[in-house]
Amino acid sequence: MMNGNVNLEDLIGDIETNLVGRNVHFRESMTSTNVVAKKLAEDGAADGTVVVAGKQTAGRGRYGRSWFSPAGSISMTVILRPDRPVAAPVASAIGTVAACGAIELNTPLSPRIMWPNDVFVNGRKVAGVLAEASSYLLIGIGMNVNVKEKEFPKDLRETATSLSEELGRKAEPSKLLGSLFLELDSLYTTIAVGETSILDAEWKSHSATLGRQVVVSENGSSYEGRAIDVSVEEGLVLETHEGARKIFPPDSSTLVRTA
Ligand code: BTN
Repeated sequence: MMNGNVNLEDLIGDIETNLVGRNVHFRESMTSTNVVAKKLAEDGAADGTVVVAGKQTAGRGRYGRSWFSPAGSISMTVILRPDRPVAAPVASAIGTVAACGAIELNTPLSPRIMWPNDVFVNGRKVAGVLAEASSYLLIGIGMNVNVKEKEFPKDLRETATSLSEELGRKAEPSKLLGSLFLELDSLYTTIAVGETSILDAEWKSHSATLGRQVVVSENGSSYEGRAIDVSVEEGLVLETHEGARKIFPPDSSTLVRTA
């Protein structure tokens, strides 16, 4: 199966993962890979099943927002069935760290994680993660790969970018997707045995927020200070100018910008 973005046969032929991508459901166009994955998971899809779309017509973002996902972007969701419970913020972090890893393996770019789960390159968002945790996990990853600046809706043009825009040439979606599978597979393997330190270290080392002066907005209030810690499980620790500490849990609906 071949489309303009992803050569799936190449991908599946090459892939050497334990679990992730052993089953792949691919369609040129889907409403949302998270929605399709949820249905497959409810119907008993195996651990590690991945849903991939060439483009999405109703891509979902966090907080009920929509996610722009034209041809030229990666839209994928993995279904995981860990033996022990994994919280949604940990699942989100797996997706975010995997997205950074895939970009680093395939390009010279330096992806940074903007709290909590936005992947930025050169100050603009290039990938996002939407995770859901119930009796199984869904980790949905969207990445702008070969999307031209003028293709983005006007309201995103200032804040979003794509790998091709930052590279000045096309990136390779099949390779990026293959790397995403590998990264997800290895992170999942460590998390599944209760080992979270690798994920936390990767999270911290890619953080664009840690150590910076930031403004955190939560439920209509703003807090300004220095982000003195970010941790997958505990959240964002802010030290205010008065020296007080405030912790924002990883699943709190905060908006963080650098001051
Ligand atoms: C965000 O930053 O708001 C999260 C964006 C997540 C987008 C991905 S694309 C694949 C998967 N399917 C969806 O509908 N959303 C996620």
